[in-house]
Amino acid sequence: MRTSLKCLVFYLIVGVITLNLYFLGQLYFQHQSNPENEQSKHQHQHRHSNDFFDNNNKKQDDVADKPSFHLKNSNEFLVLDWTGHQHIFREQDPIKCDFSHITREQCVAKFESVTNDGLRSHLIERCVRLLTLTVRWTDDQSRLKEADLISYHSIHMPSYNLPKLERNDKRQQYSTVYVLESEVHSSGGRDWHEIDFPMWYNLERSYPEPATYFDIKSYLDKLFAPVRIPFSKKMTSAPIIWIISNCNAYNGRQTLVQQLMTYIRIDSYGGCLNNGHSAQAQARAQSNSELYASYKFVISIENSNCEDYVTEKLIDGLSSTAVPIVASRDGKPNYKRFAPNYSYINVYDFKTVKELADYLNYLSNNETAYNEYLWFRRLPANKYAESGVTERSLQDNLRLADEILGVNATMRQWLLTKEASINKYCKLTKFIHMTYWKLIYKRKKYNRPTPNDVCLPSSDIATYFANSSTTIAAAAD
Ligand SMILES: *[C@@H]1O[C@H](CO)[C@@H](O)[C@H](O)[C@H]1NC(C)=O
Ligand SMILES: *[C@@H]1O[C@H](CO)[C@@H](O)[C@H](O)[C@H]1NC(C)=O
Ligand SMILES: *[C@@H]1O[C@H](CO)[C@@H](O)[C@H](O)[C@H]1NC(C)=O
Ligand SMILES: *[C@@H]1O[C@H](CO)[C@@H](O)[C@H](O)[C@H]1NC(C)=O
Repeated sequence: MRTSLKCLVFYLIVGVITLNLYFLGQLYFQHQSNPENEQSKHQHQHRHSNDFFDNNNKKQDDVADKPSFHLKNSNEFLVLDWTGHQHIFREQDPIKCDFSHITREQCVAKFESVTNDGLRSHLIERCVRLLTLTVRWTDDQSRLKEADLISYHSIHMPSYNLPKLERNDKRQQYSTVYVLESEVHSSGGRDWHEIDFPMWYNLERSYPEPATYFDIKSYLDKLFAPVRIPFSKKMTSAPIIWIISNCNAYNGRQTLVQQLMTYIRIDSYGGCLNNGHSAQAQARAQSNSELYASYKFVISIENSNCEDYVTEKLIDGLSSTAVPIVASRDGKPNYKRFAPNYSYINVYDFKTVKELADYLNYLSNNETAYNEYLWFRRLPANKYAESGVTERSLQDNLRLADEILGVNATMRQWLLTKEASINKYCKLTKFIHMTYWKLIYKRKKYNRPTPNDVCLPSSDIATYFANSSTTIAAAAD
């Protein structure tokens, strides 16, 4: 998905702040004991960062040598949008962070294990400051010296020579980067490893937590909602809908869709392979949920297939209660982390385009087989679907997820890390005030992976199907 500031704003602003620490802790333990973990090559990094996160109480002593602390006079925390492209907040208005749930007792408890008296009381006071803190936003680079947190937006990130930050016992400046584009469409720059808080969709390589396309609560609300349009009332002219604007996607999805169209009717309302017009169709997928619902399948293939790069394309497909068609192999991305088993169709499960088309045609004509893909909406355990209740608390949603998907469902474990925040800047501000700075600075940092590391090769979808369907490819030309 191309950068949409509106979208970014949306995801940054929605949500809740609680559970964050708890879930990251959980993530660490589950990650350790999860035999299905495919990420072993990155395990060291992951374990390191979470170990660090979980045990910061214990460790902060080790790094306190010669304390000489200093609490800023001002009660302001200034975020500097260095790349000036985020336009999330207005300079004159404070960022609305709600720290009202934080208490002095919490701060005391947080740092009680620090043995150095001077350091401990300093850390407690710094934490208590959250109670009266005002978080402000600027994109004025000349205020670098005043800034507490420098924020980069990846696409526009300086590729090297990031501004030098002050980091000592008296003054702490931090940096963060937000990325919602895949490795193919946004670079990390040479100095990514200098960033204190890399936050992007990658579930394991973000710190202290991933940026997100998901608001877990509303996602689960929709996931467990009853089917909107039953099979018998679905569109009959075409079983599949596709609305996309990037016609030249890195993974070659358009070649597949074009070939698929020779076997099965696909309504394409976007700019690519457009074959019709719908007054309802919107340029951005978010708005198309109603329209999707009248189709049996929605093509939800991303522009590139990379580790954890799963966007609103999947969410919108599932939310519409149609069945999403996705593309994934070698765990790039691993959809089990984001959706229930048997809730989507993976094109790589088929050898040829014809085989895929035959299967989709079969499902389109067999209500029973099609409805098996909606199993998680129909179980007796899903009493909410029956009662028509759509507003549920996050706790209710999680209980429901446990009942329906099982407590050990892969998606549950990973989705929790995608919990959306009231806004990531507030979360970071809180994290910063509740963590000893040396622990943050000392965390081992890494470069952003390259597309070669974490993405399927360019045109992989096209190549994969061309290998076994050369005649079809020729016919479609
Ligand atoms: C339809 O799907 C059901 C469930 O998968 C299967 O048992 C049945 O044989 C299918 N019917 C036809 C006509 O293929
Ligand atoms: C999907 O998950 C449910 C709940 O954990 C389980 O009962 C079911 O057997 C799974 N289905 C498949 C096809 O793996
Ligand atoms: C979930 O996984 C844990 C750890 O592997 C295991 O001890 C527990 O029995 C599992 N629970 C269920 C309901 O499968
Ligand atoms: C296509 O076939 C070639 C030759 O058999 C093979 O090396 C390559 O991996 C295949 N590509 C894909 C994407 O399957």
